[in-house]
Amino acid sequence: MLAIYPGSFDPVTLGHLDIIERGCKLFDQVIVAVLRNPNKTPLFTVPDRIEQIRRSTQHLSNLEVDSFDGLTIDYARMRRASALLRGLRVLSDFEMELQMAHTNKTLSAQIETVFLATSNEYSFLSSSLVKEIARFGGAIDHLVPNHVAVDIYQCFAKTHPASAQTTALAPTPLPLTTEPSQEKPPGRE
Ligand code: PNS
Repeated sequence: MLAIYPGSFDPVTLGHLDIIERGCKLFDQVIVAVLRNPNKTPLFTVPDRIEQIRRSTQHLSNLEVDSFDGLTIDYARMRRASALLRGLRVLSDFEMELQMAHTNKTLSAQIETVFLATSNEYSFLSSSLVKEIARFGGAIDHLVPNHVAVDIYQCFAKTHPASAQTTALAPTPLPLTTEPSQEKPPGRE
């Protein structure tokens, strides 16, 4: 059974990776699908995000990382997936996730949405929160993979001097393929 795990992943967090790893145990194959969303101004480009996820998931042989635009359900149909995988952290996630699941069900009755409860230690974690902490120079190494932390420190060190101090403590930076784009305000991710 093939499942699609769609999302923004700007950037991927340990919470996302928790869902990915557990999803790979449940399904024969999982595709992490990064949304190319023209309405959002991300910190990282889609190729950067794909690379960050690939680097974090090299140990998972039944995982593919891809990008898509348009409707998730159309992408899932095109890939002949049976399920959409989503993580649920807190009660406030539930309303929107349930609405998405119901809407997607009206668009394709064959494709089920499967929710995994995010592990306790990541129930507070979001990409937006990580970016906000990094923007003000806080430690994020315990929230994202090390190489992603370096990417984020790099982005913010260029525009936010408060982050530069943290950058000095971080491991050797990865070359980013592009300049970071404008930040977006914190929100749900
Ligand atoms: O990581 P995110 O931002 O919470 O992911 C949200 C995502 C990408 C799953 C959702 O916005 C989505 O599916 N967007 C694609 C457009 C779409 O299919 N819209 C209808 C969903 S009911």
